[in-house]
Amino acid sequence: MPDKPTSQYPSLTQEHLKALYDISQSINSITDIDSLLEHVMEVAVQAVEAERGFLVLSEDESLRVRTARNISAETAMDKDGFSRSIVSGVIESRKPVLTMDAQADQRFEGSESLILKQIQAVACVPFHLRGRVLGAIYLDGRTRRGGFTPETLSFLSAFADLAAIAIENARLMERLREENKFLRSEVERRYGFSELVGNSSKMQQIFSLLSKIIQSDISTLFEGESGTGKELAARALHYNGPRRKKPFIVQFCGNLSEHLLESELFGHKKGSFTGAISDKRGLLEVANGGTFFLDEIADIPPAIQAKLLRVLQEGEFRRVGDTETRRVDVRVMSATNKSLAAQVEKGNFREDLYYRLNVITVTLPPLRERNGDIPLLVNHFLKKNSEKTNAPMKRVTPEAMRILEGYHWPGNVRELENAIERAIVLAGEHGITPAELIISPAPHTSSSRRTLKEHEKELVMRCLKENGNNKTRTAQELGVSLRWLHYKLAEWKRVDDE
Ligand SMILES: Nc1ncnc2c1ncn2[C@@H]1O[C@H](COP(=O)(O)OP(=O)(O)OP(=O)(O)O)[C@@H](O)[C@H]1O
Ligand SMILES: [Mg+2]
Repeated sequence: MPDKPTSQYPSLTQEHLKALYDISQSINSITDIDSLLEHVMEVAVQAVEAERGFLVLSEDESLRVRTARNISAETAMDKDGFSRSIVSGVIESRKPVLTMDAQADQRFEGSESLILKQIQAVACVPFHLRGRVLGAIYLDGRTRRGGFTPETLSFLSAFADLAAIAIENARLMERLREENKFLRSEVERRYGFSELVGNSSKMQQIFSLLSKIIQSDISTLFEGESGTGKELAARALHYNGPRRKKPFIVQFCGNLSEHLLESELFGHKKGSFTGAISDKRGLLEVANGGTFFLDEIADIPPAIQAKLLRVLQEGEFRRVGDTETRRVDVRVMSATNKSLAAQVEKGNFREDLYYRLNVITVTLPPLRERNGDIPLLVNHFLKKNSEKTNAPMKRVTPEAMRILEGYHWPGNVRELENAIERAIVLAGEHGITPAELIISPAPHTSSSRRTLKEHEKELVMRCLKENGNNKTRTAQELGVSLRWLHYKLAEWKRVDDE
């Protein structure tokens, strides 16, 4: 005689145990929600030898049939139907229902469809997880076969508990997959070529050069003043090239101690220096398969220059304090706003590394050499801001545009972008007028080389404007005396009046 069952799940059959095992396996292996639900349905129908069945999930506060066997979704959830009322009751009460003799069950008395369809056995269990009901599974049969037994309920409850975890997992994965897809397309859009704005012949040359080197793996050096778009161009190259699905990693190399930079780039072994409490991967490893962007490359200390050379030549490196040689496959891009050739000449930068880094040099022109692109850029930033803030696009008055085009932009596109963002905040109903442009007027000289006096005047005027014409504050900020400021202002006025 079998032992009297004492556990929560008494005397489950071999078939039941197999089904439970099967579903527990699916928790991690099936992450596609549709395939998972099909699988859950299949296993449940077989385990209890049901004739019909369907599975509903609660979505956006209503119940939706996600899969069914021998019953259409419409019949299953028919408004006046028997099965719908069972499922709704189970979800509401969070309690399962089982009957092996439905025709005689008082709970279902008067249900026409039950009699018509001669349904004998019915089981319905909710999927619940952490206090929430995700949905339910409904099964029935016309003949009272071996499948529906008093143990069916215990089995189905255990089965539904496991299925609920698998369903939640798959849903989460689905959401993450969608989110990842969205973020990826967002990044690709943000760093696509269309974000690199410019119609001038100088920019056209840049585009033509970039398109030639997009498919290749050759090391590329970006030169240009601060704010000219070196990083943006490097990102565009990466996100349009064959490595776009792999990471684009930036390492800023300026003003970093040799130690820190080395450990950031190459990683370290636990205990290799105080503070190295565990093994750490370097950013080069993180970038494997993708692109590594070394920003401010001119500032790299000599010891690290040698190690980088090895990465570029053999694709090999070692973590700090480690003896194991590791390999990486990265496309190396770098940027500098100093002339790297001049650094080589001064002996600050290894010549062999220099040639490895700049197989191709892309030199971004300063904005003052492509003034014609300013209206295009202004429009681009206005549009970008309006999309970001969901506000209507601001207008720029022709007079303000003239000032923007005439300015010499020492901070290049970055400065222009900042000026536009600031102006948008300050702009009233007339849009952006000269009053909202916190930049100094264009210098008189047409050439970009200006005298010290001109610089002095420009700086003072800008500071005055930023301080709302407050002379005391301006003098303080510039570190000059108020008397000096008055003197200068009078002098410039005299010159202007002459
Ligand atoms: N051609 C361009 N079109 C649109 N935006 C641009 C362009 N060039 C630069 N920008 C914008 O200007 C800002 C500065 O660009 P980026 O960071 O690429 O400059 P950088 O040359 O790397 O500067 P730095 O030398 O100071 O690091 C960014 O916000 C970038 O989006
Ligand atoms: Mg940069």
